[in-house]
Amino acid sequence: MRKKIVAGNWKMNNDLKKSTELIADLLKKLPKTEAEVMVAPTFVNLIPAMEAAKGSAVEVIAQNMHFAENGAYTGEISAEMLKSVGVKTVILGHSERRAYFNETDESLAKKADTALKHNIRMVFCIGEELADRKADNHFKVVENQIKNGLFHLPADAWKNIVLAYEPVWAIGTGETASPEQAQEMHAFIRKTLADKYGKEVADSVSILYGGSVKPDNAKEIFAKADVDGGLIGGASLKADDFIAIINGI
Ligand code: 13P
Repeated sequence: MRKKIVAGNWKMNNDLKKSTELIADLLKKLPKTEAEVMVAPTFVNLIPAMEAAKGSAVEVIAQNMHFAENGAYTGEISAEMLKSVGVKTVILGHSERRAYFNETDESLAKKADTALKHNIRMVFCIGEELADRKADNHFKVVENQIKNGLFHLPADAWKNIVLAYEPVWAIGTGETASPEQAQEMHAFIRKTLADKYGKEVADSVSILYGGSVKPDNAKEIFAKADVDGGLIGGASLKADDFIAIINGI
């Protein structure tokens, strides 16, 4: 059985005080759940967030990582650095990183290699823009992101990969993919994996949906057969909303 996961991507939100308070609040209210629960604070708050979450069921994960081992990359963070503070999972290829920080399929393929080399699990993000969907090109775009970013990897790499389908037009816009649209794409993604790696691998990979998931739509989206949880932005910034979403699993 593949894992259910609900991950909160805090993006560039929450200072030190808010980060530790939010984790404390989450831990106080966290229900018993079959889902793995993760939160991704900004880099500077990883250590205090990990301390706040120590011994709990909440995993603190990173939002990004560079592909190089070390060197002259001002402002960047390496896999080794993440590992040295206890980070075990990293988000890669978020659409905001692709759009604003020039991340490409090529650089993401390198990041995936580096993460695997260091035994860091990745939440690898894919998703089409509105224009792609309007042009009926969304399946091709997502397929290419997966192929170009990840299909050079061997089958056993997939035990360390979680996919997050985040249609760009649904991120932070209040517009959500319908549960049917999410299911349709998730099933397509699983078939794409099955064609390359076989059904067993495809069935083992958790595929999360992200894009305006809220307490009032989470349950319906998570109920779909190929949706294994969510990557939550705005609604992960409030403990009560995030918990309500977790309860939708
Ligand atoms: P929102 O939930 O704010 O739409 O963001 C989704 C997202 O980008 C999570 O990574």
